[in-house]
Amino acid sequence: MAPNSFSVLQILTFLICLTHANSIDFNYPAVFNFGDSNSDTGGLVAGLAERLDPPNGQIYFQKPSGRFCDGRLIIDFLLDAMDMPFLNAYLEAIGAPSFKKGCNFAAAGSTILPATASSVSPFSFGIQVAQFLRFKARVLELKAKSKKFDKYLPSEDYFAKGLYMFDIGQNDLAGAFYSKTLDQVLASIPTILTEFENGIKKLYDQGGRNFWIHNTGPLGCLAQNIAKFGTDPSKLDELGCVSSHNQASRLLNLQLHALCKKLQGQYSDANVTHVDIFTIKSNLIANYSRYGFEQPLMACCGYGGPPLNYDSRVACGLTKVLNGSSVTANGCNDSTEYINWDGIHYTEAANQYVSSQILTGKYSDPPFADKMPFLLKLKF
Ligand SMILES: *[C@@H]1O[C@H](CO)[C@@H](O)[C@H](O)[C@H]1NC(C)=O
Ligand SMILES: *[C@@H]1O[C@H](CO)[C@@H](O)[C@H](O)[C@H]1NC(C)=O
Ligand SMILES: *[C@@H]1O[C@H](CO)[C@@H](O)[C@H](O)[C@H]1NC(C)=O
Ligand SMILES: *[C@@H]1O[C@H](CO)[C@@H](O)[C@H](O)[C@H]1NC(C)=O
Repeated sequence: MAPNSFSVLQILTFLICLTHANSIDFNYPAVFNFGDSNSDTGGLVAGLAERLDPPNGQIYFQKPSGRFCDGRLIIDFLLDAMDMPFLNAYLEAIGAPSFKKGCNFAAAGSTILPATASSVSPFSFGIQVAQFLRFKARVLELKAKSKKFDKYLPSEDYFAKGLYMFDIGQNDLAGAFYSKTLDQVLASIPTILTEFENGIKKLYDQGGRNFWIHNTGPLGCLAQNIAKFGTDPSKLDELGCVSSHNQASRLLNLQLHALCKKLQGQYSDANVTHVDIFTIKSNLIANYSRYGFEQPLMACCGYGGPPLNYDSRVACGLTKVLNGSSVTANGCNDSTEYINWDGIHYTEAANQYVSSQILTGKYSDPPFADKMPFLLKLKF
């Protein structure tokens, strides 16, 4: 072979690498996100003036970034794939954050149902939607006043053309288990989803047309819930996850999927996409070694050691005096070997895997493989 000629394999490899970088061609001018810690890029920390300690953020941002993770979240990877910058939190006031390409209303600990006195986050879904309404009104008002805001704020048509993303509901279930029986938790799901539907309707009435809805992950596989509700082995399923919690996740997801279908039927001028995060995460936890992980359930950053390395009294990065001695919830040596970061949230490595699965389009309803230029353009 002549030294300067390219093999077919080289050319194909090049094409695959080239198209991989932008394999999802959604062309949304802006993204508006609503949710909990699964997609919080700094909202709760800014809103409550709280602090996240190292090693949060260590693997990507090199410092705590307001994300409950060692690095990037699923939403970060998805925005990256859409060639968009990371979303700034609505509640972040310092440093003149740009909201030109969207805004993130998600806050860790948030529920769909209104917050109560014991809620971690006061920014429940209804508040997040209200924040969006205020955001939109302020944007239109400021832009009418002066062109100088154009650089930082979305154009008016971005509200109709933008993508509205949702990842919320996990905390409604997780919180309910502390005071309710499984049957009571299951019975509360329609009320939770009615509240969710009301929020979506408000966004539709405000001109939102593209809705991208993540279902909830296997709640029973989080170390926090295994430690609290899984001490009796008969409560665990074959993966070592709390059965009741996963049953509640499944029922919420079943009803959420039905709601997505209903909304799509009602709003023929909108796109409602449902993404099955539960299946992706369950598969990851069940088949972890196939995907390069060594620990499916144990927290990387925690206190207590195996099997869960989780102690609800000592959050990741903190030092506490327990029983007279000082203990610290440290990070593990290599977080890429772990699926779980701090007992409640996933590691960047796990988030990257989940995102790669979302981007296959196979877990979406409707599937979006046909929107992927890689599959459209590469005909062999
Ligand atoms: C819905 O998606 C289709 C296919 O991508 C697109 O052509 C259409 O414009 C979208 N509808 C809205 C309201 O954005
Ligand atoms: C694990 O992988 C096997 C083989 O591909 C598959 O049949 C199974 O459904 C996976 N487990 C889960 C929980 O997804
Ligand atoms: C506290 O320390 C004492 C003495 O070492 C030990 O017997 C006891 O089990 C410890 N209690 C807890 C809750 O760890
Ligand atoms: C982490 O790394 C340190 C230093 O290389 C080593 O001494 C320790 O055994 C490692 N811990 C684990 C759990 O692998």
